[in-house]
Amino acid sequence: MAQRSSFVVVANRLPVDEVTLPNGERQWRPSPGGLVTALHPVLVEHRGTWIGWAGGDGTAPEPFDLEGIHIHPVPLSADELERYYEGQSNATIWPLYHDAVETPVYKRRWRDSYRAVNHRFAEAAADVAAEGATVWVQDYQLQLVPAMLREMRPDLKIGFFLHIPFPPIELFMQMPFRAEILRGLLGADLVGFQQRLAAQNFVRLARHLLGLRYVGQSIQVDGRQVKAGAFPISIDTKDMERLAADPAVQARAKQIRAELGDPKTVILGVDRLDYTKGIELRLKAFRELLADGKLNVGDAVMVQVATPSRERVEHYQTLRVKVEREVGRINGEFGKVGTPAVHYLHQSVDKQELAAMYAAADVMMVTPLRDGMNLVAKEYIACRGDTGGALILSEFAGAATELRQSFLCNPHDPDGVKEALMRAINAEAPELKRRMRVMQRHLRTHDVARWAHTFLDELGSDDTEN
Ligand code: ADP
Ligand code: F6P
Repeated sequence: MAQRSSFVVVANRLPVDEVTLPNGERQWRPSPGGLVTALHPVLVEHRGTWIGWAGGDGTAPEPFDLEGIHIHPVPLSADELERYYEGQSNATIWPLYHDAVETPVYKRRWRDSYRAVNHRFAEAAADVAAEGATVWVQDYQLQLVPAMLREMRPDLKIGFFLHIPFPPIELFMQMPFRAEILRGLLGADLVGFQQRLAAQNFVRLARHLLGLRYVGQSIQVDGRQVKAGAFPISIDTKDMERLAADPAVQARAKQIRAELGDPKTVILGVDRLDYTKGIELRLKAFRELLADGKLNVGDAVMVQVATPSRERVEHYQTLRVKVEREVGRINGEFGKVGTPAVHYLHQSVDKQELAAMYAAADVMMVTPLRDGMNLVAKEYIACRGDTGGALILSEFAGAATELRQSFLCNPHDPDGVKEALMRAINAEAPELKRRMRVMQRHLRTHDVARWAHTFLDELGSDDTEN
């Protein structure tokens, strides 16, 4: 029988990576991430278990312990990877929930696979959760888990947090198994969203689609009360500040600027290569400013780091072609030998290098067409201990609700993006400093630990602060 835990996290991915040591031995290492950092103390205190997919297909590794957390892998077959993960999760739900900025694809066999995989995750949670335990289910890949789990284990306290946007009713209604998804989420005691508007969309939808009443701040579901609320996620601010202040990182930042030719302005973009992130539109804004003569190659340089993501999904393949064509076009038209206008890296970089890039960048461009939060924006702020630098931020990122002192822009308006970029480039140091200080103060008090405590407190399961 599996080890029983009084606190269980259920997420599509496990917070671990398998690495190969120099002697060829394979070993699990914690994968750094805000979520696991925030939940680590809670997990350790409660002999907690994290249920998730370990990557790859076929059989899953046996459960194991790592740094005080019980790791419980769930297998996915090659077929399920294609249908549940790439299909239903990332070609149906992901685009639909992001304002349908790409057309969602609907396939019956993807839905069947999504149901089967969600059921497997729910069974794993039912197996490892102790009597009366708290189970916290994460994100859009697992929206059916709360109801499935409640059916199996009515004794549990179940929380659900959606990391991505929750769409307005008109969009959600496109989903072929919409009522099932909604009932799946309503299996939780508390459903958390990044934004107040998303929580309101959810409450309205429950009324519209299932005729459920909202009384005393809760949705009434079969004699149960389901709460919905906004819990904007954040970063481990202290850790990020410490990392950026490290002399080795600061030295690397200087070196990066030197390698770029010590330009007046370094413009940076860091994203997963995803069509929601607005990478093309920021490249286009840069190209037009070069063409208008408002920026000059050599004085200004753009660095775009794009992590490979969901590479077998067609929308992502198309995007890669478009982005790489645009980079080629800009460098072809405006670059000089030894001085490209855009430096493009289609790769993941480690945490130190990322912090050095943030510290080296005069202007950070975060221009998603829609984003649940966008942690890159927050990481950049935390890395500017010198209070230099400017953040250009799309109004359509969740982070824009909090980071009001950024240079906000509408990513659908190319002239507005260009104007925000020029305002950021031309802003005086005292103005930048003032903006940066306010945002840094906010992130120091609103970090990822506070996010986790606030959610668990509302769920009625936070006994970790004492
Ligand atoms: P999303 O969850 O949609 O990918 P976020 O901005 O909220 O977007 O989070 C992305 C996370 O991935 C951040 O913590 C960021 O540091 C990290 N990241 C993004 N691009 C890279 C990259 N090229 N290399 C390493 N880490 C990256
Ligand atoms: O923030 C949304 C999200 O899908 C997370 O659930 C996930 O950790 C991240 O983006 C990366 O996506 P994926 O797990 O598909 O590589």
